[in-house]
Amino acid sequence: MKIFLDSANLAEIREAVSWGAIDGVTTNPSLVAKEGCRFFPLLKEICETVNGPVSMETISRDAAGMVDEGRAFAKLHPHIVVKCPLTQEGLAATRRLSKEQIRVNVTLCFSPSQALLAAKAGAAYVSPFVGRLDDISADGMGLIRDIKTIYANYAFSTQILVASVRHPLHVVEAARLGADAATMPFAVLQSLVKHPLTEAGLERFLKDWEKLPPEAKAWKSSSAVSDTAAEARGRQRINR
Ligand code: G3P
Repeated sequence: MKIFLDSANLAEIREAVSWGAIDGVTTNPSLVAKEGCRFFPLLKEICETVNGPVSMETISRDAAGMVDEGRAFAKLHPHIVVKCPLTQEGLAATRRLSKEQIRVNVTLCFSPSQALLAAKAGAAYVSPFVGRLDDISADGMGLIRDIKTIYANYAFSTQILVASVRHPLHVVEAARLGADAATMPFAVLQSLVKHPLTEAGLERFLKDWEKLPPEAKAWKSSSAVSDTAAEARGRQRINR
């Protein structure tokens, strides 16, 4: 499963890239607005920072406006994927942009019927918002299950990009269901790493290590390394 960072914050993106953790980035108008800077230069910088798809959402409400914006975004960088909302106008724009080989991520998807139409419009990705469904006591991951079934039934090539991810279990469940990708805030990505037993185990290893006498722990001096190598050769001779 691909992991995308749902952020327009360059520091977060750079950190996530440094772990080798992410395959792309998704943004939306709210995330870009949070950064409070000119969004085209920011978008270009993000595209140059991550080696994968970068989703940027159109602002127009009509298909013609979305197509104009989508064409302009696509010219910015090969990584760009244009985000259009799951509305009639958004589907019309998706159809036109996909026919021009411009990848579209159809966003704000909340039902299987919407996902079916996104695939028929030629979307490269569909973004079902699982967290916002959970927030209203609907079954967010159930939507992913339904979309997976529908797309498999008709061999749609549209990729399922699980969005509005709130916690690690959304990510694990998305992977269990075979979603193509999940996009998440940096805090959720960080929570994927953390486990109390890892922290406790590391503390214990290092505490035990500290019990060694200083000379046994020395590894930086060249003599320490050569002694170790000599000891190893000696052991090899004994073991023959
Ligand atoms: O990419 C969509 C995502 O940003 C929406 O997440 O937490 O605002 O529901 P959220």
